[in-house]
Amino acid sequence: MTALLVTLDDYERDARACVPLPAWEYIQSGAGDELTLAWNREAFGTVQLNQRVLRDVHAVDTRVTLLGQELAHPILLAPVAAQALVHPDGEVATADAARETNTGMVLSSYTSRHIEDVAKVGPRPLWFQLYMQERSATRALIRRAVDAGVSALCVTVDTPTSGARDRQARSGFQFPELPYRTVEPGNNPCTWDDIAWMHAAAGIPLVLKGILHPDDADLAIQAGADAIVVSNHGGRNLDTLPATITVLPRIVDRVNGRVPVLMDGGIRRGTDVLKALALGATAVLIGRPYIYGLAVGGAAGAVAVVDILRRELEQSMALVGCASIAAIDRSVIFDPAA
Ligand code: LAC
Repeated sequence: MTALLVTLDDYERDARACVPLPAWEYIQSGAGDELTLAWNREAFGTVQLNQRVLRDVHAVDTRVTLLGQELAHPILLAPVAAQALVHPDGEVATADAARETNTGMVLSSYTSRHIEDVAKVGPRPLWFQLYMQERSATRALIRRAVDAGVSALCVTVDTPTSGARDRQARSGFQFPELPYRTVEPGNNPCTWDDIAWMHAAAGIPLVLKGILHPDDADLAIQAGADAIVVSNHGGRNLDTLPATITVLPRIVDRVNGRVPVLMDGGIRRGTDVLKALALGATAVLIGRPYIYGLAVGGAAGAVAVVDILRRELEQSMALVGCASIAAIDRSVIFDPAA
């Protein structure tokens, strides 16, 4: 009998057999010795929770408001390139799963399906991830995304060059043809001037993804960012960067409520989501896990992954005594020194 798929790790285990090796290495690997990749997950294990009992948690409410929009829960789908590598419907299937589970989706500009085809499936909210290209091409792509109905632009700012993707290289991975990929990853010089330009060009909220330094969080806000994402690009760019959950509190402290702070990296459990929220994230993004779901079972697989994570979040909220997202704060984290 095949084992049931109960956790996100179960999907990871089964996804391996569904994806050709080069594509698997592209998705799965990190940069260098993959220390950051491992730390993203391990660091969650070093954060302990506080239990409070006998509070009324019979109805746990996971709704949050992000950029003026109410979300059913604080888990979003991170931008992941070239999803047709793992499923023929690629990002269209992901959009189906997002709509089905009321999950926000960030579509990669290295999407394998057209923006309009993804948008018409109706995921809400739908954001569009952008790598800076030459300005007129970037402007045209922004226009296209806005016309298709995306409600925010998510600019990846942590990739002035690509990381040392050794496993990817060893497997002979080559990017497939993609509709809007006119620059190589890592060949997209982008500076703070471009961010201010993009902010003016977009006319919709701007989210900067890949902020790890408090001073950069300040600069992001000065450049007009409406939200920031604490991210080390899933451990795929600069190895030995700290885990995102380790960095999150100092970014949250510096931002001090001026804009929402999101985070991604290593989330595999509802308790991970809870910890990120407790340390000040407004929402989190998952990347590889929903790709595992997509690989194993198409849209239904990605739905199952989100459902598992959301159910685990609700369970852990009830068990720490928080009936709403607003009730989650740093007191949920156990302080061994106190
Ligand atoms: C990557 C780029 C495309 O991580 O974001 O592979």
